[in-house]
Amino acid sequence: MAIEALKWDGEVLWLIDQRRLPLEETWLKLGSYEEIGTAIGDLVVRGAPAIGVSAAFAMVLAARSDASTEGLQRAAGQLRQVRPTAVNLAWAIDRVSQRILQLPQEERVAAAEVEAEAIRNEDRAACAAMARHGADLFEPGSRVQILTHCNAGALATAGIGTAVGVVRELHARGCLERLWAGETRPILQGARLTAWEAMQDGLPVTLMADTASGKLFSTDCLDAVVVGADRIAADGGVANKVGTYNLAVLADRHNVPMYVAAPTSTVDLNLSRGSSIPIEQRSADEVTEIGGQRIAPLGVEVFNPAFDITPAELISAIITENGVARPPFEESLRSLCRKA
Ligand code: MRU
Repeated sequence: MAIEALKWDGEVLWLIDQRRLPLEETWLKLGSYEEIGTAIGDLVVRGAPAIGVSAAFAMVLAARSDASTEGLQRAAGQLRQVRPTAVNLAWAIDRVSQRILQLPQEERVAAAEVEAEAIRNEDRAACAAMARHGADLFEPGSRVQILTHCNAGALATAGIGTAVGVVRELHARGCLERLWAGETRPILQGARLTAWEAMQDGLPVTLMADTASGKLFSTDCLDAVVVGADRIAADGGVANKVGTYNLAVLADRHNVPMYVAAPTSTVDLNLSRGSSIPIEQRSADEVTEIGGQRIAPLGVEVFNPAFDITPAELISAIITENGVARPPFEESLRSLCRKA
């Protein structure tokens, strides 16, 4: 059965609790926008596209409880702040708001639901298109080894994933020799989620500690790094899970292509430079604990940025649902976003 992060049943949003994977598959039922906001902040659901789709359904529930303009603006304002780097959050909230605020109050709930379902369906289709465009970057008939980071798979989207979608398509074409998954400290999305997803689908996957990446590159086995993104600025600078920049530097050093797969909803043309993307700082206990077990001295100071920025000059190509952008990204990204 296909892996899903979320389900809308017409009344409530169901989210698989990603904090408990892979040990437990628990679904949570969320019946208010406040509950969805908390779930996004607590990483029950994570990954930029899945956050955006969840927020779109949160706006449906917000409209159901108070469809006044003030009520909707209050809900939108609260939801937007929950995770500041993933632009899909603000993008989805704005898209639903723009669609419904122009309507009479009594039509807003139904219209919000239509828009949220469209956002979910478009994301599903975007994943499938990215998978094809991404897989086309590799020689037909070749056998490739791909390194990915964090989880940019089905659990992070409404479809088959962005980076992991490309890997799934390579596997379907008989071209995947191996997927390498970095564990992704501090909260181990690579170990807990990507390794689990890959094994569920029978993809050949090897998990490694993030610190093993230098050793892996030096064996010369990699054909590409493929990662997702939380926000892409107009210059092609990419915010993604902390540790992505490390891999991009290694990829440059070892002449391995660095590909980013993300829907155009992750591209923020309002930000000219990647270095201006706001970076979410998360709590110290993500670093001082593993699985609730303290591993660091009490009271130690902690640096815990959730994301880092990979500058455009380290990125070989950006794979979107509308095609592949190559440097210089200012022009190529803008033209792919226009096609949307
Ligand atoms: O903190 P997370 O788990 O939400 O971070 C997720 C990532 O960094 C993903 O790579 C990104 O959102 C793209 S998901 C298709």
